[in-house]
Amino acid sequence: MPLTIAIDGPVGAGKSTVSDAAAEALGILHLDTGAMYRAAGLAASRQGISPDDEEGVARAVRAADIAVRYENGRQVTMLNGEDVSTAIRTQEAGQMASAVSRFAPVRRQMVKLQQQLARTTAMLVDGRDIGTVVLPDAPVKIFLTASPEARALRRQRELIEKGQKADFETILAEVNARDDQDTHREVDPLRQAEDAVVLDSSEMTFEETVAAILRIVFEKTGIRPVGEAKA
Ligand code: DC
Repeated sequence: MPLTIAIDGPVGAGKSTVSDAAAEALGILHLDTGAMYRAAGLAASRQGISPDDEEGVARAVRAADIAVRYENGRQVTMLNGEDVSTAIRTQEAGQMASAVSRFAPVRRQMVKLQQQLARTTAMLVDGRDIGTVVLPDAPVKIFLTASPEARALRRQRELIEKGQKADFETILAEVNARDDQDTHREVDPLRQAEDAVVLDSSEMTFEETVAAILRIVFEKTGIRPVGEAKA
């Protein structure tokens, strides 16, 4: 079994960017499973299916060819042969993903695909149910979190940097709504695995968070970042 590292946590905790950096330092691939649910959401919304129509969503996702490939070590998310890596990054795609990820048939399909990918290659996998459902035997499980306020503040800064409108209270309300939907859904809700190490990044910089993850990986497996000399 190749090395697997499971990182779970709520929206806006910085999982994606921190996971990218940690995987690169370790010389392994990063699988962003949220991107797969986003592609599933896009498959349904492109067919005009309501996010509340469980049967319609399940049918559209079953018929869709969702795949992940890697180019220069970077994940490319594919829907029916099209690179949708950019199309899935909108706020609406995130909300659609959160909605369709409530449905058991969609989750079963995505989990199977994620398990197949992690079986063949060493990977750092980030999501909501990785340590609990997808890779319960992963030797490293991290629950990366931050306060809703810290996560909303980061999101606000990102939007301002992109020159977009960003009202803090609106963003905070969105963060709380996504948390509520992700933690209260019936199937595989976001929760911390019993054997996960909790990392609260509210007061940490990006670099500190990556360093903390690499430290946990070393403590659990003895594996160091590529090129780092043995002490
Ligand atoms: O991490 P993200 O924002 O790209 O994820 C989009 C949505 O997908 C998120 O609201 C919940 C869902 N998701 C999930 O249910 N399970 C995962 N392993 C990853 C994401």
